[in-house]
Amino acid sequence: MSIGSFHLRHIKLTNFKNYTTREFSFSDKLNFIVGNNGQGKTNLLDAIYYSCLTKSYLSTNDLYVPNFDSNFFRIETNFSLNSDKQLVEIKYLKQEKKEIKLNSSVIEKQSTYIGRFPCVIITPDDNSLILGHGEVRRRFLDFTLSQFSSEYLSNLMTYNKILAQRNALLKSFYDHRSFDRALLDVYNTSLIASARVIHRYRLDFIQQLTPIFDTFYRQIFEGYETSSITYDSELNNIDIEDLIIKNEDQDRKAQRTTQGVHTDDLTFLLNGYPLKKIGSQGQQKTFLLSLKLAQFELLKKEKLVYPVLLLDDIFDKLDADRVSKIFKLIHQEAFGQVFITHTETSNIESLITDNQIINYNIIKLGSI
Ligand SMILES: Nc1ncnc2c1ncn2[C@@H]1O[C@H](COP(=O)(O)OP(=O)(O)O)[C@@H](O)[C@H]1O
Ligand SMILES: [Mg+2]
Repeated sequence: MSIGSFHLRHIKLTNFKNYTTREFSFSDKLNFIVGNNGQGKTNLLDAIYYSCLTKSYLSTNDLYVPNFDSNFFRIETNFSLNSDKQLVEIKYLKQEKKEIKLNSSVIEKQSTYIGRFPCVIITPDDNSLILGHGEVRRRFLDFTLSQFSSEYLSNLMTYNKILAQRNALLKSFYDHRSFDRALLDVYNTSLIASARVIHRYRLDFIQQLTPIFDTFYRQIFEGYETSSITYDSELNNIDIEDLIIKNEDQDRKAQRTTQGVHTDDLTFLLNGYPLKKIGSQGQQKTFLLSLKLAQFELLKKEKLVYPVLLLDDIFDKLDADRVSKIFKLIHQEAFGQVFITHTETSNIESLITDNQIINYNIIKLGSI
């Protein structure tokens, strides 16, 4: 299997968070972003993530992305994909629709863009995947699978739209003490079709992910633990059509669709027990890291290019020994372009020397 090359060459930010105007050029291999706290290291990774996925990883709403003193932001990114130059321009003006241009042509449908420029991010916030609600884990699945497949993304968009409409309909039945069989069936048919596609992708993804995840976990942790990920979905036990029929009375009472792929979840286990309850911080961090690296591997296999890897404050997350192991991993040929943030120049310099790295770039922010 031959894996193509993919990297960012240059990025220009205008009013993106703390950057009023700033440009950066990158190495096609390792990029270290160094600066004190609050200098914009994470924001720069977020800008890269944004240009790959047209969304911020950290701000759930675009309203918070423009610089506090501005009502718009712009990101211009020069990518290189299998040696082809690609220019992406993303413009956002408050109260207006966001504009995405690829090589000067406007992108009308997100699903035709997402997945072209694959990207995986590892940040300290990832622990919400373990500690947070199911919604966080579903977002992980959705972001990964949307990069995998435009079929997934378009079905997800349909599902979410129909789900909202069906819920509004159930509420209006309840409020007006009315019922319209034919109309409900129209929504059901559409919901069922998209749910089937989503469930199939998620099931298949977790099946493929598990062995890769396991290998990484062992490599990094070298422990005796057995770790596992299970995909919990009502649809594992019952066909979605039967589920919708079975739940109809309940849904009408609750005025919403009580079960479906929107209630799916993942369970993370360590030695058969919930990781959330029994995992030490080190085990939880290793688990998350292995999960993200497995996500990287699958994305690479699917897209046949090296995804960009964004590592935010990874040095703070782990002890020196594990950092060095991970560093050896990502330094190998299995990885492409990598961005690493850190507060100290000295640790980075010793990593560079110890690993005899030649292809790298150090970006210094602020007065460091
Ligand atoms: N929309 C925004 N406009 C201006 N500044 C912002 C915006 N969003 C975040 N910031 C600022 O960016 C800084 C944090 O940047 P961050 O990338 O998290 O720093 P680092 O990762 O280097 O610690 C904070 O000072 C924060 O106030
Ligand atoms: Mg940061």
